[in-house]
Amino acid sequence: MEKVLEVRELSKQYKPGVYASEKVTFDVNKGEIFALIGPNGAGKTTTIRMIATLLKATEGDALVSGHSILTEPEKVRENITYLPDEAGAYKNMKGIDYLKFMAGIYAPDKASADTYVERAKEICGLGDRLNDKIGGYSRGMARKLLIARAIMPQPALAIFDEPTSGLDIINALDVRRMLKSLAAEQGMSFLLSSHNMLEIEYVSDRVGIIAKGHLLEVGEPKELIEKYDAQNLEEVFERVVKQ
Ligand SMILES: Nc1ncnc2c1ncn2[C@@H]1O[C@H](COP(=O)(O)OP(=O)(O)OP(=O)(O)O)[C@@H](O)[C@H]1O
Ligand SMILES: [Mg+2]
Repeated sequence: MEKVLEVRELSKQYKPGVYASEKVTFDVNKGEIFALIGPNGAGKTTTIRMIATLLKATEGDALVSGHSILTEPEKVRENITYLPDEAGAYKNMKGIDYLKFMAGIYAPDKASADTYVERAKEICGLGDRLNDKIGGYSRGMARKLLIARAIMPQPALAIFDEPTSGLDIINALDVRRMLKSLAAEQGMSFLLSSHNMLEIEYVSDRVGIIAKGHLLEVGEPKELIEKYDAQNLEEVFERVVKQ
């Protein structure tokens, strides 16, 4: 199977001797949705930011479409898109102008910029509200706009930190369906993070359970639920960390 991301013993020490993540190793296949799940402070954002080339790894490496985050960070950036957990958009801009502005930055030429905008319009599902200022959007609408912006260049790997945090059930469902169809229909790959284990059970093909900087288990939600004789991923998590 084609691998879009190969993470190899990736570690980060913010302070000497204290690991925020230690020897984290996993792969993400083409067309796969992979989620790092774990409680607050587990090391999800740290791991994700190293892969997104925004944070320097202390040890280890990760390859995105075969390019090393250590030696070819520019190539890595060409193949990814990263949506931080607390991303903001320009409040005084209309949604549509924001998409055009971002397409102008990321697209190689005018024709592709137009394609990016059309794609983003379709993905976000905001319709006429795109003509309103972002400042007047609900949190869910703003998040959908940002996700559409992140997806419009069709990167090999989309890295989303807590993509549905702060969203209500309906908006979270919309976002999850959006990610699933992009993976299934366009072969896009996703690396997500979440501490909401129940929601991630639905959206992910595979999950990695991370606690205190250690990746303790990797597998399909169904497979892990069976392995740990659990009802859901929350119970799996409880059993994994108590081992
Ligand atoms: N800039 C930093 N300097 C020092 N320590 C940090 C820094 N960022 C994170 N840490 C520490 O690293 C550990 C992992 O944090 P991280 O933000 O990666 O966790 P997380 O799994 O994303 O948590 P959350 O669910 O709250 O977002 C924590 O102990 C945190 O305090
Ligand atoms: Mg985090």
